[in-house]
Amino acid sequence: MLKYGPVQFASPLILAPMADVTDRQFRLLLKRMGGIGLVTMEFVSSRDIHLRHKRLATILRYSPEERPISIQVYGSDPELMAEAARFVQEQGADVCDINMGCPANKILKGCAGAKLMADLPLARDIIRRCRASVSIPLTVKFRAGMDDGRLNYLELGRICQDEGADGVALHPRTARQMYSGRADWSRIARLKESISIPVVGNGDVEQPGDVLRMMQETGCDGVMIGRASMRNPWIYRQAAALLRGEAPVEPTLLDRRDLILEHFRLLRDEEEHRLAMHKLRTFTGWYTRGWAEGRDLRVRIASLESPDHFIQAVIDFFDAQAA
Ligand SMILES: Cc1cc2nc3c(=O)[nH]c(=O)nc-3n(C[C@H](O)[C@H](O)[C@H](O)COP(=O)(O)O)c2cc1C
Repeated sequence: MLKYGPVQFASPLILAPMADVTDRQFRLLLKRMGGIGLVTMEFVSSRDIHLRHKRLATILRYSPEERPISIQVYGSDPELMAEAARFVQEQGADVCDINMGCPANKILKGCAGAKLMADLPLARDIIRRCRASVSIPLTVKFRAGMDDGRLNYLELGRICQDEGADGVALHPRTARQMYSGRADWSRIARLKESISIPVVGNGDVEQPGDVLRMMQETGCDGVMIGRASMRNPWIYRQAAALLRGEAPVEPTLLDRRDLILEHFRLLRDEEEHRLAMHKLRTFTGWYTRGWAEGRDLRVRIASLESPDHFIQAVIDFFDAQAA
Protein backbone atom coordinates (compact mmCIF):
# COMPACT_ATOMS: atom_id res chain seq x y z
CA MET A 1 0.00 0.00 0.00
CA LEU A 2 1.43 3.36 -1.00
CA LYS A 3 1.93 5.73 1.96
CA TYR A 4 3.54 9.14 2.24
CA GLY A 5 4.27 9.61 5.92
CA PRO A 6 1.02 8.88 7.75
CA VAL A 7 -1.11 9.43 4.63
CA GLN A 8 -2.18 6.21 2.97
CA PHE A 9 -3.65 5.99 -0.52
CA ALA A 10 -6.37 3.63 -1.63
CA SER A 11 -4.42 2.79 -4.78
CA PRO A 12 -0.73 3.04 -5.74
CA LEU A 13 -1.64 4.82 -9.00
CA ILE A 14 -0.88 8.51 -9.31
CA LEU A 15 -1.89 10.99 -11.98
CA ALA A 16 1.34 12.74 -13.10
CA PRO A 17 1.41 16.53 -13.01
CA MET A 18 1.03 17.92 -16.54
CA ALA A 19 0.96 21.64 -17.24
CA ASP A 20 -2.16 22.69 -19.19
CA VAL A 21 -3.55 19.18 -18.88
CA THR A 22 -4.15 18.11 -15.27
CA ASP A 23 -6.58 20.92 -14.60
CA ARG A 24 -9.64 20.66 -12.40
CA GLN A 25 -11.94 19.22 -15.04
CA PHE A 26 -9.54 16.52 -16.20
CA ARG A 27 -8.63 15.49 -12.65
CA LEU A 28 -12.29 15.26 -11.73
CA LEU A 29 -13.07 13.16 -14.78
CA LEU A 30 -10.31 10.66 -14.01
CA LYS A 31 -11.12 10.57 -10.33
CA ARG A 32 -14.78 9.78 -11.04
CA MET A 33 -13.69 6.86 -13.19
CA GLY A 34 -11.89 5.22 -10.25
CA GLY A 35 -8.56 3.48 -9.73
CA ILE A 36 -6.53 6.59 -8.86
CA GLY A 37 -4.89 6.93 -5.45
CA LEU A 38 -3.62 10.51 -5.82
CA VAL A 39 -4.12 13.24 -8.40
CA THR A 40 -1.56 15.98 -9.02
CA MET A 41 -2.21 19.52 -10.12
CA GLU A 42 -0.29 21.17 -12.95
CA PHE A 43 2.82 22.83 -11.50
CA VAL A 44 2.59 26.23 -9.83
CA SER A 45 5.36 28.83 -9.81
CA SER A 46 6.63 29.80 -6.36
CA ARG A 47 7.11 33.33 -7.68
CA ASP A 48 3.46 33.50 -8.78
CA ILE A 49 2.49 32.34 -5.31
CA HIS A 50 4.70 34.98 -3.72
CA LEU A 51 3.13 37.68 -5.91
CA ARG A 52 -0.37 36.19 -5.50
CA HIS A 53 -0.66 36.32 -9.28
CA LYS A 54 -4.25 36.43 -10.51
CA ARG A 55 -3.86 33.25 -12.57
CA LEU A 56 -3.49 31.29 -9.30
CA ALA A 57 -7.21 31.51 -8.70
CA THR A 58 -7.89 29.38 -11.80
CA ILE A 59 -5.02 26.95 -11.39
CA LEU A 60 -5.57 26.23 -7.72
CA ARG A 61 -9.28 25.46 -7.93
CA TYR A 62 -10.12 21.91 -6.92
CA SER A 63 -13.13 20.02 -5.61
CA PRO A 64 -13.25 17.97 -2.41
CA GLU A 65 -14.16 15.05 -4.68
CA GLU A 66 -10.64 15.08 -6.13
CA ARG A 67 -8.89 14.49 -2.83
CA PRO A 68 -6.37 13.28 -1.96
CA ILE A 69 -4.62 15.85 -4.10
CA SER A 70 -0.99 16.84 -4.51
CA ILE A 71 0.05 20.35 -5.51
CA GLN A 72 3.41 20.71 -7.22
CA VAL A 73 5.52 23.84 -6.90
CA TYR A 74 8.61 24.93 -8.79
CA GLY A 75 11.27 27.58 -8.42
CA SER A 76 14.89 28.06 -7.42
CA ASP A 77 14.77 30.42 -4.43
CA PRO A 78 14.64 28.39 -1.18
CA GLU A 79 12.82 31.18 0.64
CA LEU A 80 10.10 31.48 -2.02
CA MET A 81 9.82 27.70 -2.29
CA ALA A 82 9.30 27.38 1.48
CA GLU A 83 6.64 30.09 1.27
CA ALA A 84 5.02 28.26 -1.67
CA ALA A 85 4.99 24.96 0.23
CA ARG A 86 3.29 26.66 3.19
CA PHE A 87 0.76 28.21 0.82
CA VAL A 88 0.04 24.79 -0.70
CA GLN A 89 -0.64 23.41 2.77
CA GLU A 90 -2.97 26.33 3.50
CA GLN A 91 -4.88 25.49 0.32
CA GLY A 92 -5.77 22.16 1.91
CA ALA A 93 -3.57 19.98 -0.29
CA ASP A 94 -2.84 16.49 1.03
CA VAL A 95 0.69 16.43 -0.42
CA CYS A 96 3.17 19.10 -1.50
CA ASP A 97 5.42 18.05 -4.37
CA ILE A 98 8.61 19.80 -5.48
CA ASN A 99 9.44 19.83 -9.18
CA MET A 100 13.08 18.95 -9.87
CA GLY A 101 12.46 17.33 -13.23
CA CYS A 102 11.02 19.82 -15.70
CA PRO A 103 13.33 19.98 -18.75
CA ALA A 104 11.62 22.92 -20.51
CA ASN A 105 14.02 25.71 -21.44
CA LYS A 106 11.87 28.40 -19.89
CA ILE A 107 12.12 26.63 -16.51
CA LEU A 108 15.80 25.66 -16.82
CA LYS A 109 16.70 29.28 -17.53
CA GLY A 110 15.24 30.20 -14.15
CA CYS A 111 17.49 27.49 -12.63
CA ALA A 112 14.38 25.58 -11.57
CA GLY A 113 12.96 22.17 -12.51
CA ALA A 114 15.64 19.73 -13.65
CA LYS A 115 18.31 22.44 -13.41
CA LEU A 116 18.30 21.85 -9.66
CA MET A 117 19.89 18.47 -10.41
CA ALA A 118 22.94 20.44 -11.55
CA ASP A 119 23.15 22.11 -8.13
CA LEU A 120 22.48 19.52 -5.45
CA PRO A 121 23.42 21.80 -2.50
CA LEU A 122 20.68 24.19 -3.67
CA ALA A 123 18.30 21.28 -4.18
CA ARG A 124 19.05 20.13 -0.60
CA ASP A 125 18.44 23.61 0.75
CA ILE A 126 15.09 23.85 -1.01
CA ILE A 127 13.95 20.47 0.31
CA ARG A 128 15.13 21.31 3.83
CA ARG A 129 13.35 24.69 3.86
CA CYS A 130 10.15 23.26 2.40
CA ARG A 131 10.25 20.40 4.91
CA ALA A 132 10.54 22.84 7.78
CA SER A 133 7.60 24.89 6.53
CA VAL A 134 4.93 22.15 6.17
CA SER A 135 3.55 19.26 8.17
CA ILE A 136 1.75 17.57 5.24
CA PRO A 137 3.70 14.92 3.28
CA LEU A 138 6.43 16.40 1.09
CA THR A 139 7.59 14.66 -2.08
CA VAL A 140 10.10 15.41 -4.83
CA LYS A 141 9.79 14.51 -8.51
CA PHE A 142 12.95 14.34 -10.56
CA ARG A 143 14.68 12.89 -13.61
CA ALA A 144 17.78 10.68 -13.95
CA GLY A 145 20.08 13.70 -14.20
CA MET A 146 20.93 16.55 -16.56
CA ASP A 147 22.47 14.26 -19.21
CA ASP A 148 24.13 10.85 -19.57
CA GLY A 149 27.37 12.22 -18.14
CA ARG A 150 25.61 13.55 -15.04
CA LEU A 151 23.34 10.81 -13.75
CA ASN A 152 22.86 11.79 -10.13
CA TYR A 153 19.34 10.59 -9.32
CA LEU A 154 20.66 8.21 -6.63
CA GLU A 155 22.42 11.07 -4.91
CA LEU A 156 19.35 13.29 -5.11
CA GLY A 157 17.19 10.42 -3.81
CA ARG A 158 19.42 10.11 -0.75
CA ILE A 159 19.28 13.88 -0.22
CA CYS A 160 15.47 13.73 -0.31
CA GLN A 161 15.51 10.95 2.27
CA ASP A 162 18.04 12.70 4.53
CA GLU A 163 16.04 15.93 4.44
CA GLY A 164 12.81 14.26 5.48
CA ALA A 165 10.90 13.94 2.20
CA ASP A 166 8.09 11.38 2.45
CA GLY A 167 8.53 9.99 -1.04
CA VAL A 168 10.06 10.54 -4.46
CA ALA A 169 8.93 10.03 -8.04
CA LEU A 170 11.48 9.24 -10.73
CA HIS A 171 11.01 9.78 -14.46
CA PRO A 172 14.23 8.05 -15.52
CA ARG A 173 15.04 10.04 -18.64
CA THR A 174 17.68 12.76 -18.49
CA ALA A 175 16.70 16.41 -18.90
CA ARG A 176 18.60 16.49 -22.19
CA GLN A 177 16.53 13.58 -23.49
CA MET A 178 13.31 15.54 -22.93
CA TYR A 179 10.83 12.88 -24.12
CA SER A 180 13.02 11.06 -26.65
CA GLY A 181 14.23 7.48 -26.33
CA ARG A 182 12.77 5.27 -23.65
CA ALA A 183 12.50 5.68 -19.89
CA ASP A 184 15.08 3.30 -18.41
CA TRP A 185 13.14 1.54 -15.67
CA SER A 186 16.27 -0.17 -14.29
CA ARG A 187 17.09 3.23 -12.78
CA ILE A 188 13.83 3.11 -10.80
CA ALA A 189 14.90 -0.31 -9.47
CA ARG A 190 18.30 1.08 -8.48
CA LEU A 191 16.74 4.02 -6.68
CA LYS A 192 14.34 1.72 -4.86
CA GLU A 193 17.28 -0.39 -3.68
CA SER A 194 19.21 2.60 -2.41
CA ILE A 195 16.61 4.45 -0.28
CA SER A 196 13.90 3.40 2.14
CA ILE A 197 11.25 6.12 1.55
CA PRO A 198 8.56 5.28 -1.04
CA VAL A 199 9.69 5.37 -4.67
CA VAL A 200 7.13 6.02 -7.37
CA GLY A 201 8.07 4.96 -10.90
CA ASN A 202 7.13 7.05 -13.91
CA GLY A 203 7.76 7.02 -17.63
CA ASP A 204 6.30 5.23 -20.65
CA VAL A 205 3.48 3.40 -18.91
CA GLU A 206 1.27 3.00 -21.95
CA GLN A 207 -0.99 0.05 -21.20
CA PRO A 208 -2.65 -1.08 -17.97
CA GLY A 209 -0.35 -4.12 -17.97
CA ASP A 210 2.71 -1.84 -17.89
CA VAL A 211 1.77 -0.88 -14.33
CA LEU A 212 2.22 -4.44 -13.11
CA ARG A 213 5.35 -4.88 -15.17
CA MET A 214 6.92 -1.72 -13.75
CA MET A 215 6.09 -2.79 -10.19
CA GLN A 216 7.48 -6.27 -10.76
CA GLU A 217 10.63 -5.14 -12.58
CA THR A 218 11.53 -2.28 -10.24
CA GLY A 219 9.88 -3.02 -6.88
CA CYS A 220 8.50 0.55 -6.88
CA ASP A 221 5.81 1.46 -4.35
CA GLY A 222 3.60 3.34 -6.76
CA VAL A 223 3.22 4.13 -10.44
CA MET A 224 2.68 7.58 -11.88
CA ILE A 225 1.02 7.86 -15.29
CA GLY A 226 1.18 10.92 -17.52
CA ARG A 227 0.53 10.95 -21.24
CA ALA A 228 -1.35 7.64 -21.40
CA SER A 229 -4.06 9.20 -19.19
CA MET A 230 -5.05 11.41 -22.12
CA ARG A 231 -5.07 8.63 -24.71
CA ASN A 232 -6.83 6.21 -22.40
CA PRO A 233 -8.46 7.86 -19.37
CA TRP A 234 -9.65 4.38 -18.29
CA ILE A 235 -6.07 3.22 -17.69
CA TYR A 236 -6.25 3.70 -13.89
CA ARG A 237 -9.47 1.74 -13.56
CA GLN A 238 -8.09 -0.98 -15.83
CA ALA A 239 -4.74 -1.18 -14.02
CA ALA A 240 -6.49 -1.22 -10.62
CA ALA A 241 -8.51 -4.23 -11.84
CA LEU A 242 -5.30 -6.00 -12.86
CA LEU A 243 -3.79 -5.25 -9.44
CA ARG A 244 -6.82 -6.97 -7.86
CA GLY A 245 -6.27 -9.95 -10.16
CA GLU A 246 -9.29 -9.13 -12.32
CA ALA A 247 -9.52 -8.67 -16.09
CA PRO A 248 -9.66 -5.02 -17.18
CA VAL A 249 -12.81 -3.88 -18.97
CA GLU A 250 -12.41 -2.16 -22.36
CA PRO A 251 -14.49 1.00 -22.81
CA THR A 252 -17.32 0.78 -25.33
CA LEU A 253 -17.99 3.38 -28.01
CA LEU A 254 -20.73 4.74 -25.75
CA ASP A 255 -18.29 5.01 -22.82
CA ARG A 256 -15.94 7.02 -25.01
CA ARG A 257 -18.70 9.32 -26.16
CA ASP A 258 -19.98 9.89 -22.63
CA LEU A 259 -16.52 10.62 -21.27
CA ILE A 260 -15.67 13.14 -23.98
CA LEU A 261 -19.04 14.85 -23.63
CA GLU A 262 -18.77 15.02 -19.84
CA HIS A 263 -15.31 16.54 -20.14
CA PHE A 264 -16.27 19.03 -22.81
CA ARG A 265 -19.41 20.14 -20.96
CA LEU A 266 -17.32 20.78 -17.85
CA LEU A 267 -14.93 22.88 -19.94
CA ARG A 268 -17.78 24.77 -21.59
CA ASP A 269 -19.46 25.54 -18.29
CA GLU A 270 -16.39 26.44 -16.26
CA GLU A 271 -13.72 27.90 -18.51
CA GLU A 272 -13.41 31.23 -20.22
CA HIS A 273 -14.22 30.92 -23.97
CA ARG A 274 -10.72 31.11 -25.44
CA LEU A 275 -9.19 28.71 -22.94
CA ALA A 276 -12.13 26.32 -23.31
CA MET A 277 -11.64 26.27 -27.12
CA HIS A 278 -7.91 25.65 -26.75
CA LYS A 279 -8.50 22.77 -24.37
CA LEU A 280 -11.29 21.26 -26.47
CA ARG A 281 -8.94 21.15 -29.46
CA THR A 282 -6.03 19.73 -27.46
CA PHE A 283 -8.09 17.01 -25.84
CA THR A 284 -9.84 16.02 -29.05
CA GLY A 285 -6.36 15.39 -30.45
CA TRP A 286 -5.41 13.17 -27.52
CA TYR A 287 -8.72 11.34 -27.26
CA THR A 288 -8.74 10.40 -30.93
CA ARG A 289 -5.03 9.68 -31.29
CA GLY A 290 -4.30 6.42 -33.07
CA TRP A 291 -7.97 6.14 -34.09
CA ALA A 292 -8.19 6.32 -37.89
CA GLU A 293 -11.76 7.70 -37.98
CA GLY A 294 -10.81 10.31 -35.40
CA ARG A 295 -9.25 12.32 -38.19
CA ASP A 296 -12.74 13.34 -39.40
CA LEU A 297 -13.47 14.91 -36.04
CA ARG A 298 -10.09 16.63 -35.84
CA VAL A 299 -10.60 18.17 -39.29
CA ARG A 300 -14.17 19.20 -38.49
CA ILE A 301 -13.32 20.99 -35.25
CA ALA A 302 -10.63 23.13 -36.84
CA SER A 303 -13.36 25.42 -38.19
CA LEU A 304 -15.70 25.48 -35.19
CA GLU A 305 -16.02 28.55 -33.05
CA SER A 306 -17.92 27.70 -29.92
CA PRO A 307 -17.90 24.93 -27.32
CA ASP A 308 -21.54 24.15 -28.13
CA HIS A 309 -20.70 23.58 -31.81
CA PHE A 310 -17.86 21.40 -30.64
CA ILE A 311 -20.09 19.31 -28.43
CA GLN A 312 -22.56 18.87 -31.30
CA ALA A 313 -19.69 17.76 -33.56
CA VAL A 314 -18.72 15.11 -31.01
CA ILE A 315 -22.33 13.89 -30.82
CA ASP A 316 -22.58 13.73 -34.64
CA PHE A 317 -19.24 11.95 -34.86
CA PHE A 318 -20.27 9.23 -32.42
CA ASP A 319 -23.71 8.87 -34.03
CA ALA A 320 -21.95 8.26 -37.35
CA GLN A 321 -19.58 5.76 -35.73
CA ALA A 322 -22.46 3.87 -34.13
CA ALA A 323 -24.30 3.74 -37.42
C1 LIG B 1 2.08 18.19 -21.50
C2 LIG B 1 2.96 17.77 -20.35
C3 LIG B 1 3.11 18.61 -19.26
C4 LIG B 1 3.92 18.23 -18.17
N1 LIG B 1 4.00 19.05 -17.08
C5 LIG B 1 4.70 18.64 -15.97
C6 LIG B 1 4.69 19.40 -14.77
O1 LIG B 1 4.04 20.45 -14.65
N2 LIG B 1 5.44 18.94 -13.72
C7 LIG B 1 6.15 17.75 -13.80
O2 LIG B 1 6.80 17.37 -12.82
N3 LIG B 1 6.16 17.02 -14.93
C8 LIG B 1 5.45 17.43 -15.99
N4 LIG B 1 5.39 16.62 -17.10
C9 LIG B 1 6.06 15.31 -17.07
C10 LIG B 1 5.10 14.20 -16.61
O3 LIG B 1 4.66 14.43 -15.30
C11 LIG B 1 5.78 12.81 -16.68
O4 LIG B 1 6.90 12.82 -15.83
C12 LIG B 1 6.24 12.47 -18.10
O5 LIG B 1 5.25 12.77 -19.05
C13 LIG B 1 6.62 10.98 -18.21
O6 LIG B 1 5.52 10.16 -17.89
P1 LIG B 1 4.60 9.46 -19.04
O7 LIG B 1 5.54 8.68 -19.92
O8 LIG B 1 3.66 8.59 -18.25
O9 LIG B 1 3.93 10.56 -19.77
C14 LIG B 1 4.62 16.99 -18.19
C15 LIG B 1 4.47 16.16 -19.31
C16 LIG B 1 3.65 16.52 -20.38
C17 LIG B 1 3.51 15.59 -21.55
